[in-house]
Amino acid sequence: MAFATRPFVRAASSATAAATAAAKKLIVKHVTVIGGGLMGAGIAQVAAASGHTVVLVDQSDEILKKSTKGIEESLKRVTKKKFADKPEAGAEFVEKTLKNLTTSTDAVAVVHSTDLVIEAIVENQEIKNELFKRLDKFAPEHTIFASNTSSLQITQLANSTTRQDRFGGLHFFNPVPMMKLVEVIKTPMTSQKTYESLMDFSKAVGKSPVSCKDTPGFIVNRLLVPYMMEAVRLFERGDASKEDIDVAMKLGAGYPMGPFELLDYVGLDTSKYIIDGWHALEPNNPLFQPSPLLDKLVEEKKLGKKTGEGFYKYK
Ligand SMILES: NC(=O)c1ccc[n+]([C@@H]2O[C@H](COP(=O)([O-])OP(=O)(O)OC[C@H]3O[C@@H](n4cnc5c(N)ncnc54)[C@H](O)[C@@H]3O)[C@@H](O)[C@H]2O)c1
Repeated sequence: MAFATRPFVRAASSATAAATAAAKKLIVKHVTVIGGGLMGAGIAQVAAASGHTVVLVDQSDEILKKSTKGIEESLKRVTKKKFADKPEAGAEFVEKTLKNLTTSTDAVAVVHSTDLVIEAIVENQEIKNELFKRLDKFAPEHTIFASNTSSLQITQLANSTTRQDRFGGLHFFNPVPMMKLVEVIKTPMTSQKTYESLMDFSKAVGKSPVSCKDTPGFIVNRLLVPYMMEAVRLFERGDASKEDIDVAMKLGAGYPMGPFELLDYVGLDTSKYIIDGWHALEPNNPLFQPSPLLDKLVEEKKLGKKTGEGFYKYK
């Protein structure tokens, strides 16, 4: 009898151990960041600075050189503030961070040893889908995929892979080293374990995560973009000047920038892209109506600060 029960107990306990291991959150150590632009470089920087080993991937060595230079300069700024009285500790921090960071132009070749892939490439559904589909074949079973997209549906990106349960959104804010927020997006298919691992990772890189379902704009942009569009409509109707609207929101609501200053900072093309995408999804939603004035400025290539002119001139 005793002989008969022992293997059963052993089998039961190993099954329990396997179940516990499967339910355990993934502690992310190795990260691959795809896209070394504004956002990807920032994400790679904060991940490396918090002790993760990071591979930053982009399309050419030239772009990656620029990303690395940007990271080095940003680290110097952070260090000046953080280690104002301890320059030696600051230099050590920079050295350690850069040691954790390598670059590559071959995503497929680096994902085999990664726990988390964070995608921060161009905001284009087809290109992102193609990338995720390709990486899905080469990344290990346990690897979590996350997108930093601002306006695309995480669910649609997840559907280009076979790991929908290990797929979520990690929406960082610009500039990444400064902004404390990360929105962690859970689709109906994201497992609780994946969600918790993404929350833990966000905290590990020094951010304050909030969670949101996979809905247009998540939390911040869902509130911010319709607010900026309403400001444009107020101006279009001739109810107030753009200068007065900006002053009103700064002095009356305590916002650091007025809506037109913010639109110019974000980029009018980016804002138009977001609102057009949401309008296509929900054509009857009055918050998502496009603006003729915004469309006109984009057509004239007045895209905001980056082109020297948007709602305001910057020359
Ligand atoms: N800029 C922002 O304020 C902001 C804020 C939050 C989220 N986002 C999101 O982050 C993502 C990236 O935005 P960004 O502003 O950093 O863009 P960016 O144009 O600065 O950088 C994108 C980088 O991706 C690279 N890239 C494009 N296709 C690639 C591919 N197939 N493989 C590898 N690299 C590729 C490009 O060479 C470029 O360096 C977008 O999805 C955007 O919606 C942007």
